[in-house]
Amino acid sequence: MLQILCLALCGLLTCTRAEPGALLRLGMDILNHEVQSAMDESHILEKMAAEAGKKRPGVKPIKGLTDMKVKDVQLPVITLSFTPGAGIFQCVSTGMTITGKNFMGKSMEITVVLNITATNRILQDEETGLPIFKSEGCEVILVSVKTNLPSNMMPNVVKKFLDSTLHKVLPGLMCPAIDAVLVYVNKKWANMNAPMPIGQMGTVKYILTSVPSTTASYIQVDFSPVVQQQEGTTIPLANDREAPEFPEDYDEGSSQLLLSAAFLTAELALLQKSFDLDIQDTMVGELPPQTTKTLSGFIPEVAEAYPKPKPLVTQIRINKPPKVTMETGKSLLHLHGTLEMFAARRRRGKAPVSLFLLETHFNLEIQYSVRENRLQMATSLNRLLSLSRQTSSVGAFKEKKLTGFITDFLREAYIPAVNDVLRVGLPLPDLLNMNYNLAELDIVENALVMDLKLD
Ligand SMILES: *[C@@H]1O[C@H](CO)[C@@H](O)[C@H](O)[C@H]1NC(C)=O
Repeated sequence: MLQILCLALCGLLTCTRAEPGALLRLGMDILNHEVQSAMDESHILEKMAAEAGKKRPGVKPIKGLTDMKVKDVQLPVITLSFTPGAGIFQCVSTGMTITGKNFMGKSMEITVVLNITATNRILQDEETGLPIFKSEGCEVILVSVKTNLPSNMMPNVVKKFLDSTLHKVLPGLMCPAIDAVLVYVNKKWANMNAPMPIGQMGTVKYILTSVPSTTASYIQVDFSPVVQQQEGTTIPLANDREAPEFPEDYDEGSSQLLLSAAFLTAELALLQKSFDLDIQDTMVGELPPQTTKTLSGFIPEVAEAYPKPKPLVTQIRINKPPKVTMETGKSLLHLHGTLEMFAARRRRGKAPVSLFLLETHFNLEIQYSVRENRLQMATSLNRLLSLSRQTSSVGAFKEKKLTGFITDFLREAYIPAVNDVLRVGLPLPDLLNMNYNLAELDIVENALVMDLKLD
């Protein structure tokens, strides 16, 4: 009794837990690259230098220094580290020269080296649902200060200036730089939850499951992707008993994307109808002619019913959503449906006559790759698992006799058609200008893992 209760409870719990269909781990490699490129794109320090040189109303002149200008801003060096539970700690080391005139009218230069530090907290924007970095606790740390003045000249003025004024002025000057850079980083998530098409059949949207989490070596973004048919019906992701996990053997600092088998299954459900196929060609690939004569080699009853050979017409109807399964190193696509063979009639307008209809289950092995930032699948026949006769106009026969014939048919005629359908590719999350084309793919338990590489 207690056991049943436990089972029921566990069942309930798994049902209510939102199962992420895709997980992204952002390591330092990608984050460094993104922040650096945002820094370059924003030209922020140059802008700040220009800003600092301007006379602004309401800003008190620095005591003892007039005509203040900022010049020679050094190329910033950015150092990032993870702050578990919060986000990224960012340190921008740079230097600059401040010029001005002292009260005696002499020109004076102060060269400062400084670190601007802040914590970029990763949050989920309430309005858009997108991840967003927000900076907190910006501080400016003076690393070194040098002037062109001999140390015995006006030491008091310089000292005062350095101790108080620079400390007061610099954060206002420098901290907006951190925010401005984050605007550029945040922009790179902006398309993430937009619907992306899967052929003409539907769309997928990568929606965040929760606020991204930060550990000592990565930021993890969990997605609950929404797979939707063209007319708007959402295809639910099957709740697998165990949530797929990242293997632990990736390099420190590297980034990965995991796509669960349940998610790929939901996406392929969109293509179910496209896997139906009618074939009426007599000559297909390496196959013997698709005629009643060839078929009668397997089922003699066909020869009795059709003494004169007739072309065959084959219909495959997939009647259950396709299912993707994965175990270490191997992924299969399971297809359940019917295979019906007809004898064509020569006279125009006459419907072909059904010979038999078989229920069938077969699976294809999937090879994954990435092309143009879409996940590509190419399949080959793995196994024909079952054939069972539902109807027959040529009398009873043993389905087993057809195994070879149907296997060859699937391999030569059907699988190429499936691969054509799969060529649409499955969209990958559009964020941080990620280039997935170089990713190394790995099939693990219930998931595909892409080890992401920078160009
Ligand atoms: C300034 O930043 C650099 C680079 O992160 C670091 O090595 C250095 O210790 C920092 N200096 C101070 C005074 O914080």
